[in-house]
Order: sequence, then structure tokens, then C-alpha cells
Amino acid sequence: MYLNCMKHLVKEEQYQKTKAIVVKFGEPGGTGELLQKKLLERSEKTYNWVYDYWLEDMYLNQRLALPVNSNPAMVFPKQNFKDRKDSLRFAAHLITGVLEYKERIDTRVLPVDFARGQLAGTPLCMKQYYRLFNTYRLPGHKRDTLIIHKPGSTEQEHIIVACKNQFFVLDLVVNKKKLKEMDILTQLEKIVKMAENSEERQPPFGLLTSDGRTEWAQAREVLIKDSVNRESLAVIEKCLCVLCLDNPSGMEVGDTSRALLMLHGGGHEKMGANRWYDKPMQFIVGEDGVCGTVCEHSPFEGIVLVACTEYLMKFMTGSPSKMGRATSVSELPTPARLLWKTTPHIQDLLKASAERLQRLVRDLDMDVHKFEVYGKEFIKKQKMSPDAYIQVALQLAFYRCNGRLVSTYESASIRRFHEGRVDNIRSATSEALAFVKAMTDEKASLSVSHFSYLVPQILGYSHYTVHHAITGLGIDNHLLGLREIAQELKMERPEIFTDETYVASNQFILSTSQVPTTVEMFCCYGPVVPNGYGCCYNPQSDHLLFSVTSFHGSTETCSAVFIKALDEGLVEMRDLCRKTYDGFSHTQLPPHPGMS
Ligand code: COA
Repeated sequence: MYLNCMKHLVKEEQYQKTKAIVVKFGEPGGTGELLQKKLLERSEKTYNWVYDYWLEDMYLNQRLALPVNSNPAMVFPKQNFKDRKDSLRFAAHLITGVLEYKERIDTRVLPVDFARGQLAGTPLCMKQYYRLFNTYRLPGHKRDTLIIHKPGSTEQEHIIVACKNQFFVLDLVVNKKKLKEMDILTQLEKIVKMAENSEERQPPFGLLTSDGRTEWAQAREVLIKDSVNRESLAVIEKCLCVLCLDNPSGMEVGDTSRALLMLHGGGHEKMGANRWYDKPMQFIVGEDGVCGTVCEHSPFEGIVLVACTEYLMKFMTGSPSKMGRATSVSELPTPARLLWKTTPHIQDLLKASAERLQRLVRDLDMDVHKFEVYGKEFIKKQKMSPDAYIQVALQLAFYRCNGRLVSTYESASIRRFHEGRVDNIRSATSEALAFVKAMTDEKASLSVSHFSYLVPQILGYSHYTVHHAITGLGIDNHLLGLREIAQELKMERPEIFTDETYVASNQFILSTSQVPTTVEMFCCYGPVVPNGYGCCYNPQSDHLLFSVTSFHGSTETCSAVFIKALDEGLVEMRDLCRKTYDGFSHTQLPPHPGMS
């Protein structure tokens, strides 16, 4: 399957070399057989044989800065706040919703999710939900650590509030009584006032968390030499979540700028330092109505994040604010401002982090686009999988921009398995290449014969999705398992993993993910390689929402150009379907494989 996935993406000579390596690897009694045996033994001893390997490879070993490169964001609908107080009311209500949701997690009353879409009906592993609020990604010199606090721990009874780059502790339990919404609002008002006080202002330490992971680990080692810094870090590392109260950014408030503010805060001159990027759940409430979350990705996937944030959005609109009705805690202590001890060396580190964040901000090329010509209902009517169809459209757009196809990542949920995260649907198939070539190079007007390329491609893709990626038989996790177990056995890295084709197979120039929502919001993230695109899409009944990112520094990419090609391709694909339908009757179309 690996050879099939890569054959058309590398040069013929290279492919022949890879083929020989793969055949040798798979010989009876060869390295592959030994590693497979060891992997099977591992699967007997672990709940999920790939989980730890995957977590380290995908996240903890990665050294790039979290903003843009790793942390996804969820952009909430733009709010219309009358004034600062109004935004604080929203924030207090949001935190009340968070506490209600966390209570559901702690008391294990969250209903089990069941798979929807293809192969619907299977129960899904819920473990990711239990890591929403009790985790923290600690930077390390070579590898980060995902710290997991015991659920419901009494050490975790506070949130951190960031305001004007200052960090405050908001205790949620005072005198053994839980704070009510109006108490939270009172505390937030105090925090905003304290943040105004310039005499007590602390340096913007949150910037350090926006840096490369090794740089941040080194800086943290310097910080913890002082007990004041050690204590501040300990409090942050145990919090439930971070609430960032942002000042107006001064940017025009469109979808793209809101998404940028979520991903990187607009750099140190805007809100980029008013963050703590290591914390998995970080809510942003801007005075100008720009709201959402930016998340450290290692504990959970976008789908779990959607479930949590949709609950919160429904809570916000469905449950009236309980201001004034509940008895509040009468004497609320003043929230503590976190203090930092700085030295000239630490000042230099902060400056360096600020500069690197600024570079990232300048480099990110983002375009959020709503394709309104049709949505997933039209695609379903053609008896095609909307997800497969969109993936083909992405391939077409890429081909039109770059004249080739490249290794493509599409996350496929494997929550059907205990501790399952994702595997990869490699949608740059040979059928996709044939289709995009026919659509682009043959130059003929759209014809029914083009459709004969489209259907097998989409069915081929659906087949891979259903029968391999989401049922745990994808190749990416398997190859990763074989590679890592070889390392554990201290074997020399097998040639299959040093081969040029394997390297190319892991450079995801197109990194895509479907993150559908049922309420008005959208997800976005950055590219995973310097010359790549990040493309998150949200198929709705009558429209398709795309957030496309790339880096200005690459001459091979441009988000606006990609969006334009995508738009045109989607329209052409619709025309093709329509044209074909004039020639065919619906019943002649092949059945949906997941439905048989
Ligand atoms: N004809 C008609 N309808 C079809 C069809 C066909 N040939 N193929 C699929 N459909 C229908 C499905 O039944 C489904 O119907 P519903 O809307 O009533 O539920 C709908 O079209 C959507 O199906 P499809 O587009 O094929 O995708 P999916 O919902 O099965 O999703 C994946 C496919 C791979 C995206 C999904 O399995 C997955 O893994 N999602 C998680 C991704 C993830 O983790 N993202 C976050 C990463 S951080």
C-alpha cells in the first residue's frame, strides 16, 4: 500500500529503488518480519500499540514554536460588546459554562460519542475529553512532556487570567465555596483594574511560551533558578484553563483577521504576549468582540474541541446569565498577580522570543474563504462522499497551482480504538492524479469522460477511508510503529526509513483536516512544512468553509491563489456532475460503499 501511495509522487528511478528496499524489508525472515513480530508483542502489552509513539512523533518531539506550527484555533462568532464590562460579562458566563462542562467530565456524565458519517454507529473512545482541562505541555530540551493532573484534583481549582500581558490567579473556590458567575465577574473587573496599574506591571513572560520548544525549555531552566518564577510557573502549570482578556487589536474584524488573532495574537505589539501557549485550553475574549480558543494540540483532536466549544456556545446562548440571582461569596480575596524576577539575561531572552514570534506573524499568509455556490447536500445528491469530493477538489487546486501532486495528510479519526487518535488518509492517489491531469491538461471542454475519472477516484478514496484509515489499517501509524520499535531495539535504522521516498512521504506539503461544526464557528491551523499549505475545512449543507494557510517566505505557495484555484475547481466539478447527469440516470451511479 505504501508503494501504491508513493509511486506517482516520486521519480520512476527513485520508485524502483524504493520498491527494491520494500521488497527486501518484507522478505520472509527479514527485518520487516522481525519488527512486525515485536510490534505484535507490544500490542499484547499495551492498550494501544501506537499511542505513545504517535504522541511523541506528532507533538512532543517537535521543536517548532506552538503558535501557527502546532496549536489549532477555534474562532467564535464575532460578538458585539457595548463596552469592556459587557465583554467581562461574556467572559464570566463563558467560564461558568467551562466549569459546568468540566463538572460533566469529572462526574463522567458526558454521553459516549458514536461515529457519524462513514461506518456510523460505532462507540468512540472518550479519553481525549478527560484531557481537556487537566493537562499541560511542559517544554523539554529534546522532548516535551504532557503532564496529566488527576481529574478533579484540588490543586486545580483556579484559572489564569491574562490581561495586558500580566497573569492573574482567579481562584474558583473561596472558603470552600464555589464562585458564582457574579463573583467571577467581580474578580475579572478587579483584574482588569489591576492590569491598568503600570507601576506593578511585570514583563511579558507569556512570550517565552511562543518560542521554539528547545529555546523555551532553555529559558525555563534560567527562570526556575529563582523561587518567585518557580512559584508563578507552578501555578500556571496547574490551572484549568487560561482566559485571555484582549484589548482591541485595531485590526479590521473579518474572518481572516480574527483567525490570525487566535493563531498568534498579532505578535508582541498586539495580543501575542497575552497568551500562555503551553496550556491546552486557552479562551480569548477581546473587547472588540474577537473571541475563540487557541489550543495546545497534544491532548486532544479538533473534533473533541468542537464538542466542547459547541457545548459552551449553546450554553452561552441557551442559559441566561445568572448574575445577581445567586448568593455570592461575600468576601472575595483580591486575585493574585503572578510575579516574575527578571535579570538582564532574561530580558534578552524575552526580546529574542518577541522577535521570533514577530517573524512568524509576518510570515503567515492566511485566507478564510466561504465557498457559497453549493455545500455538502449537493455532493450527497451526486451519491458521493462530501469529504472525498472536497479532498479531490484540494488535489485539483494544488495541481493547478504547482503542476504536481504531493504527499497529503488528511486526519482520519481512529477513536474506534481505545486511546485512538488519528491516522492519515493519503488523498494524493494515482486516481486523483489522473483526474486532475484530465481536468487541467487535456484542455478539452468538460466531458462525461472526465466524470469517469472522478467517480473511481472518489470511490477509491472512500474505500481507503472506510476500510483502512478509520479502521486502524492505515499505513502511517503502522510504519511509524515499525520504525520506532526498531529504535527501541537499538537496531540501525532500516533502509526503508532512511530512503528518500519515505522522507518525502512524511513531508506533508498539503496538510488537511475536516473539522465540521453545527454552530457558527470555524477551526484553523498553520502549515506543517515551510513550503506547504494548511487547509482546514468545514462542510455545511449549503456552503463549504475553508481556512487556508501558507508562509509568505515560500515562493511555491500563496493562500489567495490556492483559494482561487479551489473555487474554480469546485465550480468545474459541479458543472461536470451536472453535465454527466444529463447523460446518465442517477441509478447508473455506483453505490456508496459505506451504505452497502
Ligand atoms: N453518497 C451519499 N452520501 C454519502 C456518500 C455517498 N457516496 N458518502 C458519504 N455520504 C454521506 C455520509 O453518510 C454522511 O452523511 P451525514 O451527513 O448524514 O452524516 C455525509 O455524507 C458525510 O460523509 P463523508 O463526507 O464521507 O465524511 P465523514 O463524515 O464520514 O468523514 C472523515 C470522513 C475521514 C473526515 C471522518 O471519518 C474523520 O475521521 N473525521 C475526523 C477528522 C479529525 O479528526 N479532524 C480533526 C483533526 S485535529
